[in-house]
Amino acid sequence: MSCVEMEKEEKKKYELRQLTKTFFGLEKPLLQKYTNAVTNLEDLCKELHVVFSSDSVNIEYVNHLLMVYSSNINDWKKYAKFDRYRYTRNLVDAGNGRFNLMILCWNEGQSSTIHDHADSHCFMKVLKGGLTEIKYSWPQQDDALITECEPKCIGNVRSDSEDGENELQELSRTTMNTNEVFYINDNIGLHRVENCSNTDVAVSLHLYCPPFDSCSIFNKAGKRTQCQVTFWSKYGKRVPDIGNK
Ligand code: SIN
Repeated sequence: MSCVEMEKEEKKKYELRQLTKTFFGLEKPLLQKYTNAVTNLEDLCKELHVVFSSDSVNIEYVNHLLMVYSSNINDWKKYAKFDRYRYTRNLVDAGNGRFNLMILCWNEGQSSTIHDHADSHCFMKVLKGGLTEIKYSWPQQDDALITECEPKCIGNVRSDSEDGENELQELSRTTMNTNEVFYINDNIGLHRVENCSNTDVAVSLHLYCPPFDSCSIFNKAGKRTQCQVTFWSKYGKRVPDIGNK
């Protein structure tokens, strides 16, 4: 990529990040007359590539596309890989460096750690089962004490509860069912996600834009740690080493 092209890409990422200050997610899809049909996951990926190739990304339309895609196990079963110890992150489409689309698989009781989204947009659609999203406020005093840690899945670290003035406040707790879409960004707050079921697995589709390979995780006392995020599989194939991305 030439310097000019790189500058253009960085500008696009900057503009996309700026939109997190004003975008809060759609409540319902846009009017159908403005949109193309998305009948399967392949269509969704194709349409996302079109949207993200534009100079100015229409974030509402991205939200809309995720809403109108209807989950079909035949579309995503090749990406649905479970691990008995933690939820898995499985890359479906790296979006030319402009977005990441991934499928997350949650065994009974598995959850992520409280985390931010590195100034990106995070869309999440439930493909199977139910997932609970717990939103938190940012720590009152974010002393930005950032500790580099080993590459790990956001779900590898427990949110130890420690009392203290800086304790994170729970803002909401919402259960999402199949085909529902949720949205969060750092302006809205922090969150963690949990499969609260003792009997059923859950699968979700996540879109992050711009993509990020590290974010902050927090314990309940508001202590922040920098965490590198990894994939369990890419394009349906196991990534051999947890440190390899
Ligand atoms: C989530 O809890 O939103 C999933 C985090 C991830 O991308 O691993």
